[in-house]
Amino acid sequence: MNKVLVTGGCGYIGSHTIVELLENNYEVISIDNFSNSEPSVLDSIYDITNKRIINYRIDLRDINELKKVFQNNEIEFVIHFAAFKSVPESVTDPLSYYDNNINGLINLLKFCNEFNVKNSYFLLLVQYMVHQRMYLYLRIVKYHRSRLTQEQSIFVKR
Ligand SMILES: NC(=O)c1ccc[n+]([C@@H]2O[C@H](COP(=O)([O-])OP(=O)(O)OC[C@H]3O[C@@H](n4cnc5c(N)ncnc54)[C@H](O)[C@@H]3O)[C@@H](O)[C@H]2O)c1
Repeated sequence: MNKVLVTGGCGYIGSHTIVELLENNYEVISIDNFSNSEPSVLDSIYDITNKRIINYRIDLRDINELKKVFQNNEIEFVIHFAAFKSVPESVTDPLSYYDNNINGLINLLKFCNEFNVKNSYFLLLVQYMVHQRMYLYLRIVKYHRSRLTQEQSIFVKR
């Protein structure tokens, strides 16, 4: 059976999404490095659904380990939640945020292309959502461009 890969599957939104997917009989795997979650979340998912899922404890930036996940699973579509999300932290430590959130996404998209995940109906749906979010993001960036430039200037000064 083809699988849904949920990245950040042990985080707040990811774990709830996994419960919904399992309750609708999807086969699910997760990638989560527990940078902002606990392995016990997997037990909570089991308690609710009576189903155990595999979580790959890897960092999306680890390209070799990420490739193995795609090689070892028939992934039909990907739902991507793995990211840092604290606004104050992103201001004090912007490089970590760019590194984690951008590079993780790039690696994921690279393997979606390499392993042809995008051919499925469900991934098209997810890609549509990703594009919608990117569109929204671009609008927000445009709206806040002056603010962003200020923040970047402050960062460069440091
Ligand atoms: N929580 C909300 O209300 C909310 C609202 C809108 C958007 N979002 C966005 O949705 C996404 C998920 O939010 P959340 O609240 O579930 O966050 P979360 O921190 O609870 O979950 C993210 C999970 O991703 C994992 N992770 C982070 N970087 C990783 C990496 N490089 N490799 C592997 N695992 C990694 C963390 O360990 C964590 O378990 C974030 O991008 C967030 O900005 C959240």
